[in-house]
Amino acid sequence: MLDIATMRHDLKDAFDLDPNPSLAEEMSDRYAAMSRVVNPVDWAMHAPYVAAIDKLKKERGAVILAHNYMTPEIYHGVADFVGDSLQLAIKATEVDADIIVQAGVHFMAETSKILNPSKTVLIPDMAAGCSLADSVKPEGIAQMRAQYPGAPVVTYVNTTAEEKAASDICCTSSNAAAIVRAMESDTVIMTPDQYLAQNVAQLVPEKNVVWWEGSCIVHEQYTAQDINEFREWNPGTKIIAHPECPPSVVEASDFSGSTSGIIKYVTDNKPEKAMLVTECSMASNIADALPEVDFVGPCNMCPYMKKITLEKILWSLYTKSEEVHVDPEVGSKARVAVERMIDLSKKLGI
Ligand code: 13P
Ligand code: SF4
Repeated sequence: MLDIATMRHDLKDAFDLDPNPSLAEEMSDRYAAMSRVVNPVDWAMHAPYVAAIDKLKKERGAVILAHNYMTPEIYHGVADFVGDSLQLAIKATEVDADIIVQAGVHFMAETSKILNPSKTVLIPDMAAGCSLADSVKPEGIAQMRAQYPGAPVVTYVNTTAEEKAASDICCTSSNAAAIVRAMESDTVIMTPDQYLAQNVAQLVPEKNVVWWEGSCIVHEQYTAQDINEFREWNPGTKIIAHPECPPSVVEASDFSGSTSGIIKYVTDNKPEKAMLVTECSMASNIADALPEVDFVGPCNMCPYMKKITLEKILWSLYTKSEEVHVDPEVGSKARVAVERMIDLSKKLGI
């Protein structure tokens, strides 16, 4: 368990982490990618951490894989690779570094470990969990299998290794509909996100999609009424929702896609005003690359993703902690489900 006081004390002894405006100026190229959303005073505070992380990454032979929900100083400052869950899983199969630092939540680090059992996978804070991943246990999957005999279980990657091991194939928000469509059976069980499953059911009407009733604390909060009221109040805004939102929210929106799908939609269409119905860092991370887009409207913070900070990434590299372990037997079963997804996605060109 991370002891914040010890971490701060030891980091202070080992590194010069005082705000440093001249170092910030030296790294102005990196700042340029976040200057619309991070003020110069904060960048001068982040710069010593970024420099120390750069140095340790080289010394340790480590790479940082960061999810699209990381804050801009992580996303643009220290990440070697950024992406959605599918892209991060694929990248984890390609990196040849000995150490992977996962700037994201625990299930993402576990997926990297499942795909790389011999590598060291670190997560900067073990407490970076996920309400969705916590919502189903292998017994729940067994219960669904008993209710729908013979139906394949398609499990969202937002689950623990045990649930993946109990499933036939995984999916992410960017490939869920295609994976379900590719299943041979007429009935397909989706776990654990009821809303992703309901959104997929609309896209794949030829299948009888049944689901586990889990949900994400970030996306379940939005309602169609919020979207409609916002549209009335700020006409002309393109509203873009993650498929973990309830179907009524997705229906009321202009587009729905994975975190990378959302980035692509906004980048390709450059709407004058955009509301991203998802986690707050999404808009921050693309704001500088899209100066013509005004990001408006509310967003919700994921308290788990926000547990990952520059300070904890530095500590993680410095102490080689906290290491993610997966039971080898569970890991090899889970790997089958994740690799099936990756192979099928590549075959389908996703
Ligand atoms: P993506 O696969 O779209 O990046 O989603 C991950 C996630 O946790 C969304 O809540
Ligand atoms: Fe889990 Fe939701 Fe946070 Fe994604 S946004 S990590 S699904 S709690």
